[in-house]
Amino acid sequence: MKAGAKPYLVARSHDGVPSDVPAARWPSRWPDTAAAEAMAVDAAAEAGLSSLELLLGSELGRLDAHTSAHCARVARLALALATDLGLAGEQREILYLAARVHDVGKVGIPDAILHKSQALSGVEWEVMKSHSLRGEHIVRTGLRVPFGEQIALVVRHHHEHYDGDGYPDGLRGHAIPLASRILAVVDNYDAIRVARDYHPPRSHRSTLAILASERGTKHDPLILDALLSHDRHWFEQQAALD
Ligand SMILES: [Fe+2]
Repeated sequence: MKAGAKPYLVARSHDGVPSDVPAARWPSRWPDTAAAEAMAVDAAAEAGLSSLELLLGSELGRLDAHTSAHCARVARLALALATDLGLAGEQREILYLAARVHDVGKVGIPDAILHKSQALSGVEWEVMKSHSLRGEHIVRTGLRVPFGEQIALVVRHHHEHYDGDGYPDGLRGHAIPLASRILAVVDNYDAIRVARDYHPPRSHRSTLAILASERGTKHDPLILDALLSHDRHWFEQQAALD
């Protein structure tokens, strides 16, 4: 991490929504026991994903190949960044599972909008934006697993902006669930970096430059700093990108 960037420890507020507090200290290297625990949590997250895929099977199976691959890359990046930020246990699992299904609400968005190469009209943009609420609904109604409610909330808020200019609720700063803020950063990295119908692929360097220009507006500064502190090799390892 960059000097001055504070890692997070995660606590649970009284209503069960994740909240975050700065960690007093961050070890320079994971001890072996912590690494073993992280691996166990990742295995649990994979097991959770299996049950989640089973329960949401028909919905996830209807996602187009591009969106499905995007969700898989974003989930790997999210899990790696979660380690930097000190997320542990169920918070890692919630983040990972939410990342894997964060765009499931795009099921049902017409292809003419989803794959349009020109700018969306105002009405089309509203339809596109509805995917975060559709996703929350699909997860909430289709999922009967531990932490299902938290996963649904993370999906709902993955397009909120740190300055309050996002959607669907215009939440600002730490009112946005921590996992949604982390997800927003890695989601944006992949969305910018990889070709979409409306833009060509961008280089790793220009992707980071775009993200850096959104520090404190679109993205939580400390979370963004943690991501930007990594070299290109780290990104290639997590997301298997060129
Ligand atoms: Fe999305």
